[in-house]
Amino acid sequence: MADTNYESLIGRADVNDLEAILAITNSDVDAISHAVKSDFNSDFTWNYERSRPALSKLYEKAKTSQWNVTTDLDWSIDVDIEKVVLNNAEANGRMFFQDNDLSHTSFGKWTEKEWTQLAIEGNNWTMSQFLHGEQGALLCTARIVETVPWIDAKYYASTQVMDEARHVEVFSRYLNEKLDGHYPINAHLRMLLDDILMDSRWDMTYLGMQIMVEGLALAAFGFMQQMTTEPLLKKLLRYVMSDEARHVAFGVLSLQEYYKELSGAEIRERQEFAFEAAVRMRDRFLQQEVWERMGVPVKEALELVLLDESRAQFQGLLFSKIVPNCKKLGLLDAGDGWLRERFTEIGVIQFEDWADTGEEYEALDEVAKDRASA
Ligand SMILES: [Fe+2]
Ligand SMILES: [Fe+2]
Repeated sequence: MADTNYESLIGRADVNDLEAILAITNSDVDAISHAVKSDFNSDFTWNYERSRPALSKLYEKAKTSQWNVTTDLDWSIDVDIEKVVLNNAEANGRMFFQDNDLSHTSFGKWTEKEWTQLAIEGNNWTMSQFLHGEQGALLCTARIVETVPWIDAKYYASTQVMDEARHVEVFSRYLNEKLDGHYPINAHLRMLLDDILMDSRWDMTYLGMQIMVEGLALAAFGFMQQMTTEPLLKKLLRYVMSDEARHVAFGVLSLQEYYKELSGAEIRERQEFAFEAAVRMRDRFLQQEVWERMGVPVKEALELVLLDESRAQFQGLLFSKIVPNCKKLGLLDAGDGWLRERFTEIGVIQFEDWADTGEEYEALDEVAKDRASA
């Protein structure tokens, strides 16, 4: 059965793209820093009037729902990662390749030991990319403090800078203390973050980070939070998600107002920017470095990954926040519905009427819930 599927997929753009995807690798893995150049204005505003109640409300929420990595999490919990991935597999089934016949592939002779190691490496890779992505969010939000013209947005964004510092801190500490084996940033993720930071327009930082990257992250954290059986990670992700829901709301509330002022051509540019980011996040984040580390032929592994039904479903679910938020912003149907057509082509349009994140942050505030019940 796997063979038939494979044949039918040859010639499809995403399989052909594999060469292009693999051609981009992170070649400076030993570098200790990475600079992105951009030419943007640091904008003062002399209008201190609080004229945006929705952003004000979000800011008040952010001030009272701060949490502390050092004292709000129980770092004494011991993480035996091998046990954790076995427990996770027992609870949820194996993530990849559960329906494929692998007997004629490099995986045909794999024993439970290799599958367990794959799950461990996949976890290391994912947590590492969360860490690097969080640093991207930290830089983007610091940028927004400077570039956004409204005082209410500057106030709110400054709380997000603190949130993102906390997220970098928490993932870094978890990787250092509880896991063994970091990964450098994936080249495709780095390119996406670079493109967002290179754009000097303040609303593009919002669209790229608050709507696209954080929308994806919120869904990915939610997925992992449900799947993991490890209590420290579960709580850590609940708390990170409480913050992320506010961040996406910040993007939706701000851009909703700003997009009303833009021309059709300007909106079209935003639609294209959103779509480009979506394609990269759907097709490019393929854990290629994990297969390298596992010592299997990367191209063969990725061809199989692209055929995998459960992986395709998971990848689709990652758009469950992005699509409704794009709809709420008017990006889906603006002009001739260009973005609706594109999202239909890449198979994610079915999420358009799921809950958008404009208000969801109150329901997701697990920090406030824990405090109320304590
Ligand atoms: Fe974050
Ligand atoms: Fe965030």
